[in-house]
Amino acid sequence: MSAEQPLTGRARPDRRPHTLKEWRKLGGYDAVERGLKTMTPEEVLDTVAAANLNGRGGAGFPAATKWRFMPKPGDAPGDGPSYFIVNGDEMEPGAFKDRILLEAVPHQLIEGAILAAYATYSSEIIVLIRDAYRDAIANMTRAIAEAEKAGYLGKNVLGSGFDVKMWVHPSAGRYIVGEETALIEALEGKRAVPRKRPPFPAQSGLWGRPTTVNNVETVSCVSHIVGNGAQWFRALSRTEEGGTKVFGVSGRVNKPQIIEAPMGTTAAELIERAGGVSGTGVLRCFQPGGGASGFLEPAEADIPLDFGHVAKAGSMFGTGTMIVLDESACPVGVIARHIAFYARESCGWCTPCRDGLPWVAQIMARLERGEGRMEDLQVLRDTVEIAGPRGRTFCDLMGGAMSPLGTGLARFGDLFEAHVREGCCPIARDYGRAVA
Ligand SMILES: Cc1cc2nc3c(=O)[nH]c(=O)nc-3n(C[C@H](O)[C@H](O)[C@H](O)COP(=O)(O)O)c2cc1C
Ligand code: SF4
Repeated sequence: MSAEQPLTGRARPDRRPHTLKEWRKLGGYDAVERGLKTMTPEEVLDTVAAANLNGRGGAGFPAATKWRFMPKPGDAPGDGPSYFIVNGDEMEPGAFKDRILLEAVPHQLIEGAILAAYATYSSEIIVLIRDAYRDAIANMTRAIAEAEKAGYLGKNVLGSGFDVKMWVHPSAGRYIVGEETALIEALEGKRAVPRKRPPFPAQSGLWGRPTTVNNVETVSCVSHIVGNGAQWFRALSRTEEGGTKVFGVSGRVNKPQIIEAPMGTTAAELIERAGGVSGTGVLRCFQPGGGASGFLEPAEADIPLDFGHVAKAGSMFGTGTMIVLDESACPVGVIARHIAFYARESCGWCTPCRDGLPWVAQIMARLERGEGRMEDLQVLRDTVEIAGPRGRTFCDLMGGAMSPLGTGLARFGDLFEAHVREGCCPIARDYGRAVA
């Protein structure tokens, strides 16, 4: 295993997953033995807290802080299991990082999930996987069966007295199913709309039982932390936020790809490793964390990429999967594409999102066709101000959709105006090609 790439270093280039026997030879399940046989659940949790593991699903919430909300056995009201859910829905535009972890190294995820379930007093683990990720669903299902047969899952795991079941649930195939409370609704067989909080899932989650939801990449880090220690994990990072990050680089680069690198790696380094900017070879801007993150420009390509630094720069680290635009790619066109996606994926539960996003999508499409009006720009600015901030809608889908629009208007206002004034996309006209 590469020291710098604990999460992806053991993945085969063709993504063929390891059998349990092969995985054991690579050190697999050593951390599970260590955690379950020599540590208490509280010690596992404290180790993850000391490692400073921030959730990799988008918000960057510290994993251990979330785990501490889970009640100890006997403290939870009523009878029944507590649940640990692994979120592998991955439908954010530009995000494709969890796929490799699910497809190529499923045993790594199982190890992390067992330890996370142990630390959160959970007896059932559900891995929800994006419906389109058929290989991931098949590989995870096979790996779980192997782990169960070998006694890593089931009753009295490794003689520790800890009982845990695990299974895969394919997602219904909508972006909103990735939102953790909508995911819980979906698992209960209901329409996938976010729940009101409080109560938070740790108080009342799946079937009213204590529940924790973590992202695939977050969970995949856990066996490495327990196996190698918190300090080792922190030292992998260039910043205060622990670990490596499975970055994604797509859009206008020569070799779009997944790159596992230290937390705090810069956009400039990642773009270089992805073969440099394609098209004109000149960087116009980038979205550092997937479709719902605000635009940054070349002057910001050298900031360390982590949750804190990217937020300070006015964007969001999100999924850490960067979308790159060169000079011949039009941000207005990219925003139009994103908004069309978010409008389609709105679950329809709250008005600003259900009714607002289709209007914004129409305006963006009109602008792109060169049929926009100057007053449209004010409507867009007003929508960002009214519906953009957190808390104005039931979940962050609407706020996320407003991030590229808000930063696009602020940074590329002249381009929006040029679309109206010139009655066409000036970039498509000048570069003579379709916009990204
Ligand atoms: C519309 C929407 C979609 C989301 N999709 C995902 C997803 O596909 N995967 C994911 O891990 N988190 C997703 N999230 C974030 C989850 O609600 C939740 O914060 C996350 O799974 C927690 O994991 P973490 O703490 O390990 O990051 C989404 C959030 C929203 C608002
Ligand atoms: S913001 Fe959109 S996706 Fe989220 S609950 Fe409201 S309508 Fe549904």
